[in-house]
Amino acid sequence: MGPRTESSIIVEASSVSKRFGARPAVDQLSLRVPAGVCYGLLGPNGAGKTTTLRMIYGVTRPDSGTVRVFGIDIGRDPRSVRSRLGVTLQQNVLIEELSPEENLRVFGRYHLIREPELSRRAHELIGFLELGSHAKVPVRQLSGGFQRRLAIALSLMNRPEFLILDEPTTGLDPAVRLALWSRIRDLKAEGTTALLTTHYMDEAQRLCDTVAIISAGKVMDEGAPSDLIAQRLARETVELDCSPSEEPALLNGLSPTPQRLRVGRRLMVYLDDATRLIEHIRKLDQGQRRSLIARPTNLEDVFLALTGTSLEGGV
Ligand SMILES: Nc1ncnc2c1ncn2[C@@H]1O[C@H](COP(=O)(O)OP(=O)(O)OP(=O)(O)O)[C@@H](O)[C@H]1O
Ligand SMILES: [Mg+2]
Repeated sequence: MGPRTESSIIVEASSVSKRFGARPAVDQLSLRVPAGVCYGLLGPNGAGKTTTLRMIYGVTRPDSGTVRVFGIDIGRDPRSVRSRLGVTLQQNVLIEELSPEENLRVFGRYHLIREPELSRRAHELIGFLELGSHAKVPVRQLSGGFQRRLAIALSLMNRPEFLILDEPTTGLDPAVRLALWSRIRDLKAEGTTALLTTHYMDEAQRLCDTVAIISAGKVMDEGAPSDLIAQRLARETVELDCSPSEEPALLNGLSPTPQRLRVGRRLMVYLDDATRLIEHIRKLDQGQRRSLIARPTNLEDVFLALTGTSLEGGV
């Protein structure tokens, strides 16, 4: 592999495993994050996302397998890697007695950023994350959402080439969430690579070029959100309330029987054209107003199909 190819892969995790006690948290997981993409790690609670990010950042050591970041083995030389990346872990790492502005300055000095650049960057990030009204208040007095904003600001302070964000938008209000998405897109346009986790499938679908869906420490599937949707499920989804016993009558006459997914009373039916099914159900219901919506199939459907409720009709 020539140097050009090497530098275009930011993260290369090869067969990494991590156990806590007898339970594998990450199980022979491999992934590659190319330069300049926004890559999303998705998975249910406890799937191993944070453990994977911590191994990539070099704070958790894998039991086996290797992680290379910028082509460097993170286990051998974490320092030279960390100066080039920005990280927001799931637990905020903040100095509670200091204000947001002081936190940013301390962190900037740690990265050897000097005045006047230090002040410039601190003020720019305070503005961007709308921390202005709280810039001089000790962190411990801030609400959870403001602490989260500061944690994100800190990860951007050293203008990293590679950003690792563990659930960055959890707890953020909608306006700040939109602002962060837009900043991640701008950074990407400038060549920054991002690896993030999220439980919001709409966010992953909008923001990520590639997602890996992981479950029990293994990659279930990987690809562009639109490709995963197209490969796994039919184009349209009819979502309705119905009991399992009603289901055969509702689907009667559809051939082949469409793929479907049940979460409690809610049934999702996946079809390339929803019209016939909707007409059929309306006729059966004879004017009764059943809760029913038709919508395009989305990443949340794929996520549920791969990690959650069993899908009938095969994926
Ligand atoms: N320090 C630890 N000690 C013991 N078990 C741990 C530790 N860290 C993680 N685990 C276990 O490893 C598994 C994966 O946890 P991890 O935090 O990576 O999941 P996650 O995908 O980030 O979940 P979430 O969506 O809830 O953040 C879980 O079963 C968890 O209980
Ligand atoms: Mg986590």
